[in-house]
Amino acid sequence: MVNGTAGVLATALDYTRLGRAELGERIRERKRALNAVVLGHNYQRGEIQDVSDFVGDSLGLSQAAADTAADVIVFCGVHFMAETAKILSPGKQVLMPDLRAGCPMADFVTGAALRRLKTELPDAVVVTYVNSTAEVKAESDICCTSSNAVRVVESIPAERTVLFVPDRNLARYVQERTGRRNLVAWDGYCYVHDDRVLEELEQAKRAHPGALVVVHPEARKELLDRADAVTSTAGMVEYAEEHDEVIFGTERGLVDRMKQRFPHKTFVALSGAAVCGNMKLNTLAKLAWCLDHGRHEVVLPEDVRVRAERSLRAMLELSGGWTAPADEESALELAAVRPGGCGCA
Ligand code: 13P
Ligand code: SF4
Repeated sequence: MVNGTAGVLATALDYTRLGRAELGERIRERKRALNAVVLGHNYQRGEIQDVSDFVGDSLGLSQAAADTAADVIVFCGVHFMAETAKILSPGKQVLMPDLRAGCPMADFVTGAALRRLKTELPDAVVVTYVNSTAEVKAESDICCTSSNAVRVVESIPAERTVLFVPDRNLARYVQERTGRRNLVAWDGYCYVHDDRVLEELEQAKRAHPGALVVVHPEARKELLDRADAVTSTAGMVEYAEEHDEVIFGTERGLVDRMKQRFPHKTFVALSGAAVCGNMKLNTLAKLAWCLDHGRHEVVLPEDVRVRAERSLRAMLELSGGWTAPADEESALELAAVRPGGCGCA
């Protein structure tokens, strides 16, 4: 529990008895007191996005938080996203409102399983989607997001085998776009996007014949083939800003949010059932509890963090999105991570 906090309640359940306005007020006050920023992923509930300092896609949020002078980052998303924030901000405390908010796609692969496959494919370059654990990123050569995966794979010499982890659908999409034959895909997928909703697509198109269809690349090929655009969640927000009639093939939360933001536009969810239950484990009450109690903290072994950062940094350098920290910044960061350290390299 945070010392000296007036009115701190014991359990997250106790916070559910408070009204939404009171919870919002408490959250804002605790953010100020702790010098904390709240990050809300595009799939979060509206009330969480309302109290978030940044709303966006997983990597963009971690980068935004790393650029702030905050002492504490609260990640309202899933576990690998909070880990990514920790990888990029080792000197900051990273919290999650509910530790059970994991990503089943990320859990398709473990560090040990990846190490085993690497021994069978010793010359392969391991390209890992950011929807993966820090341990898996640490075993990888380079990371990618759904928006830069094609570019990342194109940067690898044609003769090298690519081992693409963990999303088979994104792997297949990249393979088609790059024409690369020597790509081995891990057999993971996202249960929200890997759905046969072709029938629903036909229905939605009949009801909205003028609508454009935008689909997340975690979806199956059959769906991607029928889309006007394939893009990440951040790309979908831009798409919503630019077009008036759109059918969205992604998680409901993003679609509901876009409808709220642009009430005069026609936005349709391809599937009403496309809900990520893991993302929705975060609630306003748990967020208030998390800030009052300084929990749940996400910690990483430093060797894993450093190796995971290397593969993330390789991607960021490729897309021009990473500025190497100045020597002085690195020294300060290191001192913050290892306060008792002797300063040896
Ligand atoms: P973005 O990186 O596009 O936000 O996607 C994250 C995710 O979990 C999609 O299912
Ligand atoms: Fe993971 Fe899919 Fe949920 Fe995204 S939508 S967090 S990939 S389970």
